[in-house]
Amino acid sequence: METINFTRGVPANESFPIEEVVEAAQAILRTQGAAMMQYGPALGFQPLREWLAEWQGVRVEQILTGNGSLQLIEFLCLHLLKPGDVVFTESPTYDRTLTLLRRHGARIVGIPLEPDGPAIVALEKALAATPPKLFYVIPDFQNPAGATCSGEKRRRLVELAERHGFLLVEDAPYRLLRYRGREEPTLYRLAPGRVLHMSSFTKLIAPGVRTGFMVGEPELIARLAKVAEDTYISPGYVAQGITYEWCRRGLLPPQVERLKKLYAPRLDACLGAIDRYMPDAVATRPDGGFFISLTLPEGTSTTAVRLEAARLGLNLADGLAFFPEGGGERFLRLPFCALSPAEIDEGIRRLAESVRASR
Ligand SMILES: Cc1ncc(COP(=O)(O)O)c(C=O)c1O
Repeated sequence: METINFTRGVPANESFPIEEVVEAAQAILRTQGAAMMQYGPALGFQPLREWLAEWQGVRVEQILTGNGSLQLIEFLCLHLLKPGDVVFTESPTYDRTLTLLRRHGARIVGIPLEPDGPAIVALEKALAATPPKLFYVIPDFQNPAGATCSGEKRRRLVELAERHGFLLVEDAPYRLLRYRGREEPTLYRLAPGRVLHMSSFTKLIAPGVRTGFMVGEPELIARLAKVAEDTYISPGYVAQGITYEWCRRGLLPPQVERLKKLYAPRLDACLGAIDRYMPDAVATRPDGGFFISLTLPEGTSTTAVRLEAARLGLNLADGLAFFPEGGGERFLRLPFCALSPAEIDEGIRRLAESVRASR
């Protein structure tokens, strides 16, 4: 019996455009090798920043690149947060961001996440108690829940950010991976002065390129670049040069199409298997991204289900780490992109059996 891993949100190995990257690397090293090998501004490899600025429709001073987007969050924390500062996140949210926020002593308030975005009534209540320094949100195909924020809630979020004077940090690495349905505007587009937008090439090329970026007000970007400089002088220009050349060649749009073709059937396999084997499950039904999440029936705990699942050759991740203030005992994240449709079907079948056995 093959073990099936529904644990980590990683891209599929077969999605990596290795030949394209080889060619881009050769070409850019031959033409810009010295610049890529040398130290340079902490803001990032200038041609990549210029390409990103044009793509995002902003000025180049508004672009900071870094070694993955997670480290850019760390720079933001280093710059903005003092111990005891209040930060809002969705609950659940990306566990690694919670780790960074905690490391900086932030007082994290979790705003319950609904299938169409953060619960606005709970948010208003939390704002009335203490407005935060920042609210970290993942509006598109959220990690871990799979939820996407509705247009209406996006407008409410930026209104509230304006009214209460906090920064919205919009982390959007899954945004381009929409397999169906209509795109909502970014928070950044709705209120550029209130939002720091961020994304990454991790899910578009490969995690190995470690290239993420932020789009924001030039002053904030310059301050974050100073933190970056004091940390690593300059980011990995070799990876950034290759990423730039790959983008310049127009390879991003066809890669996004290939990813959609690869991943959409995996999402469908996941949803179909849930309908077939767990018809009573409360599941998110995303239109894209990497994750579906399940809330197990009352009286079941993820911990007990994980033990049963391990016996059946199914590895599941603990849901607890995604919740800033506790809860999540019945929450399960199912990352579906790195599994074949057949593995997904068998994995959900084993999951249904584990849930029955754990009751
Ligand atoms: C919401 C979110 N933000 C950030 C990251 C980290 O991305 P990077 O590899 O660019 O550091 C991830 C990776 O899974 C993620 O899901």
